[in-house]
Amino acid sequence: MTTYLDAVTSLGKGSLHPGGFFHTLNVLRQIDLSDEDIVLDIGCGTGRTACHIAKNSGAFVFALDNSEEMLQKATYRASQEGVQVQYVLCDAGDTPFRNKVIDLILVESVLIFLPAISILRECNRILKKNGILICVEMCASKSLPKIAREQIQAACNLPHIPSFEEWLILFQNTGFAPVKVQRNNFPGLLDNIKNILYPDPYQVVSRGTGSSREVNNVMQKYMQLIQIYKKYLGYGTFLMKKL
Ligand SMILES: C[S@@+](CC[C@H](N)C(=O)[O-])C[C@H]1O[C@@H](n2cnc3c(N)ncnc32)[C@H](O)[C@@H]1O
Repeated sequence: MTTYLDAVTSLGKGSLHPGGFFHTLNVLRQIDLSDEDIVLDIGCGTGRTACHIAKNSGAFVFALDNSEEMLQKATYRASQEGVQVQYVLCDAGDTPFRNKVIDLILVESVLIFLPAISILRECNRILKKNGILICVEMCASKSLPKIAREQIQAACNLPHIPSFEEWLILFQNTGFAPVKVQRNNFPGLLDNIKNILYPDPYQVVSRGTGSSREVNNVMQKYMQLIQIYKKYLGYGTFLMKKL
């Protein structure tokens, strides 16, 4: 069976998170990075954010994912862009980094698929004191009907769809304090229009991961559900500091 993550891996687009690349650019404008900083993109997918940071800041960039296929696409992107990103194949909850070594961690649409608390504990372990954690994750209002919640969770294999407030509590319970947080509409029409200005030049579509019909069915089902229930859905931008 082709899962949602299989489908997006197969399609190989960059910026597979709410708000897309345009949103990432806006968030990154709020961060100062120097060549002394170490950045880690967790669940980097095809590496668009990681490559952008490597190209536009002096920071050293690590990016990890547990999918070999994603990392192959990310490696191709880095070679096309002529940038150095150190890719790591590992689980987000069990990284090879020592304690307190990272200055900035990005997590864009990854926690929602996982037991978020264990990933956040790992982020806390490897971030330096006062290090920054940026997360972009889908959220749902508490009034999302039960049937809709079940359908969306089943379509994307999500353990839970937290509300914006639940995400905040989760960050606070794992040792992070808010610097700037924002709730956004999802899918935002304006986001979609703005992202047309940033097409991904290095998208690589796989052959062989499920049939293309299965991949299309999975994506269509997801899009339909998001459209039907969009008034209950949103995404949070969480810029947090490790205490
Ligand atoms: C929706 S995609 C987002 C990719 C990327 N952050 C972006 O915004 O384009 C989720 C990513 O998380 C990765 N992922 C899922 N579970 C993971 C895990 N346990 N450890 C590391 N990466 C994981 C998937 O392989 C996928 O690349």
